[in-house]
Amino acid sequence: MKRIFNKIDGWKIIQDKIEFEENRLAESIMSLGNGYMGMRGNYEEMYSKDSHRGSYIAGVWFPDKTRVGWWKNGYPEYFGKVPNSVNYIGINVLVNGKYLDLGKCEVENFYRELNMENGVLTRTFIANVDGSKIEVKVQRFLSIKRKELAVIKYDVKSLNFDGEITFVPYLDADVTNEDSNYDEKFWMNISSGSKEYKGNVISRTKDNVFGTEVFTICANMINKVSKKAKVSEYMNKDFYSENTIVVDINKDETVSLTKFIAITSTRDYIQDELLSTSENILNEEIVKGYENLLKEHSEEWNKRWETSDVKIDGDIAAQQGIRYNLFQLFSTYYGDDYRLNIGPKGFTGEKYGGATYWDTEAYCLPLYLGVADKHVSRNLLEYRYNQLEAAKENAKKLGLEGALYPMVTFNGEECHNEWEITFEEIHRNGSMIYAIYNYTNYTGDYSYIEEKGIDVIVEVARFWASRVHYAKYQGQYMIHGVTGPNEYDNNVNNNWYTNYIAKWCLEYAVENINKLQEQCQKAVARNNIKEEELNKWITIAENMYLPYDNELDIIVQQDNFLDKELIEVKDLPKENLPLNQNWSWDRILRSCFIKQADVLQGIYYFGDKFSIEEKRRNFDFYEKYTVHESSLSSCIYSIIGSEIGNLEKSYELYSRTARLDLDNYNNDTEDGLHITSMSGAWLAIVQGFAGMRTWNETLSFNPKLPQQWNSYSFNINYREHTLKVIVEKENVFIENMSKGQVELSVYGESYKFEDKLTIKREENLALSM
Ligand code: BGC
Repeated sequence: MKRIFNKIDGWKIIQDKIEFEENRLAESIMSLGNGYMGMRGNYEEMYSKDSHRGSYIAGVWFPDKTRVGWWKNGYPEYFGKVPNSVNYIGINVLVNGKYLDLGKCEVENFYRELNMENGVLTRTFIANVDGSKIEVKVQRFLSIKRKELAVIKYDVKSLNFDGEITFVPYLDADVTNEDSNYDEKFWMNISSGSKEYKGNVISRTKDNVFGTEVFTICANMINKVSKKAKVSEYMNKDFYSENTIVVDINKDETVSLTKFIAITSTRDYIQDELLSTSENILNEEIVKGYENLLKEHSEEWNKRWETSDVKIDGDIAAQQGIRYNLFQLFSTYYGDDYRLNIGPKGFTGEKYGGATYWDTEAYCLPLYLGVADKHVSRNLLEYRYNQLEAAKENAKKLGLEGALYPMVTFNGEECHNEWEITFEEIHRNGSMIYAIYNYTNYTGDYSYIEEKGIDVIVEVARFWASRVHYAKYQGQYMIHGVTGPNEYDNNVNNNWYTNYIAKWCLEYAVENINKLQEQCQKAVARNNIKEEELNKWITIAENMYLPYDNELDIIVQQDNFLDKELIEVKDLPKENLPLNQNWSWDRILRSCFIKQADVLQGIYYFGDKFSIEEKRRNFDFYEKYTVHESSLSSCIYSIIGSEIGNLEKSYELYSRTARLDLDNYNNDTEDGLHITSMSGAWLAIVQGFAGMRTWNETLSFNPKLPQQWNSYSFNINYREHTLKVIVEKENVFIENMSKGQVELSVYGESYKFEDKLTIKREENLALSM
């Protein structure tokens, strides 16, 4: 753990000293986004020390030609990534003709805060530029009221001189990606323009040989200064446009530049309309003035928090953690655009691009089910439905039937090129179906399965039926050559989680076909399902091999896992961790160390199929060997930890989940934030500490309270109700904020109520601890 921002506040992320060594980490943490676009916490003005500039537009991606040492048949031809795009925040500042550069000049009182309550990033500092001292305040936000709009207000106060300040606001589309496979630039210039106080740049992703969509984006700026400019010039060239605005300044006077930017793209408009549309947006918005735009934006954030805030009393670090996670996740995705999905790094870095992974279905969907309108979750399901044909193509490429959803994708095609992931980490297919089950069970809305979901369920079942093989001496079906969720072991046989979820997918397919035979014949007919096919699925499911050790009475992660040298994580020298940064890959693969929940992932998904005792035995066994070097791990262990009454461990793992980036647990946050696992902090509270479950379409809670906390509360949408749940030391309160009667169970007792329910916790402590 490494905390660089030591001042902790429930609503703010505070940086009170300038970071040079850890600037990339600070830039990741100070990221902003509005679902449509986003950026790392780069400075507006020139900065000559180490920095990773990054600004990304949702859904705008580029197929970067695959680079591998030895080409294997079936490799995807490209690695998809969301390219770093036009730098639109740039504002160079000159003080009496000398550049302000925080990498070079003397800096005092540096302070930066990310206000999560209203999504505004503010920076203040005093700088000495060759003897001229200025006090600077910069505020910026990406409007969530008007998605195309970004606003920056840059104030400069003279502390000791009469002279001049030059603002050079610019747009620069000549940008690169650090992770480009062939050091290639991904953008080409279309045009640029400039006028007094105005500028625009239009650029397009380069043509590519893979036939994927190209995107054109337009960045347009209008700059306003607080006093009459002495000089006002403008200039543009390929990829670039700037204004130069010089104003006089007197000692103690403040001068300001406000830069309004609109970004439009061919995802929404035709190329010829990009410039005029962005101009219209700017004209419509600017008349409102900076303060009103900020107010509108803040009010939207307030609305989001009203429905989703989680309050923790007694533990400010935990409070900050959960809000940070919700803030960054909602900054990445709030369900406004059905074409989008949630990239593991969102808009905060290059690694993992903004591509879609199984993370969405496995980790994010349950959060959106709980806090957003159900159409958001349905959009996420339809995103995969719309890619079904590509998933069938993907299975075909591997010589298999049915549909194999990609591990990493933008348009349905696989675009990840490590063989052990692309070809082998097929468990991801199960999560596509689990998400359909989750949505249907949670919302009670069966129409999705009837209309679309069944097609996905059937094709995934076909995939599993063709991917298993029959082991004749064992008389069972097996799945060889896979990578389970634990990516620290590859090409294993019979990964329990994969076999279990494959079996479940087949059973779920049969169950739904049988249901639809009665309810919606046409859904069955359009999938062309024959009796023998169903029987085959039943036979495979009934005879699926699931590794188990009778002596230890535990599930075995995969064949021969117990033959490894079993060393516990606590016995490893501290400096070996994280293993992925200190050990060779082959040493990791041979070891018993588990990157992320694997057996536990299955126990979490299918929690109603395992007793508390079974959960405890498997948790206790596997936790010892798990290094949680995937951000997706600790939330699952935290949830099961709460369920089995190991609150101490589950609290520790909650902190690791909620503060993973703020405390840089895995020493990799400088690359960007772990966006998709941010839902894990919410899950660890709601499903973990509060024990919310929805098995068999019944809502239940089993609330516990970590001893470090006085109380916590959250809201959830469940079917037609919105409920507020408050867990205090003595009582649990559940408030129905909607109309009608609520039916649920708490600590195993059923209740029906209309307004409020109060349950003594003390009486239940014995039961729940
Ligand atoms: C994890 C995967 C995950 C990916 C993106 C990897 O480190 O092992 O399970 O899908 O990150 O978050």
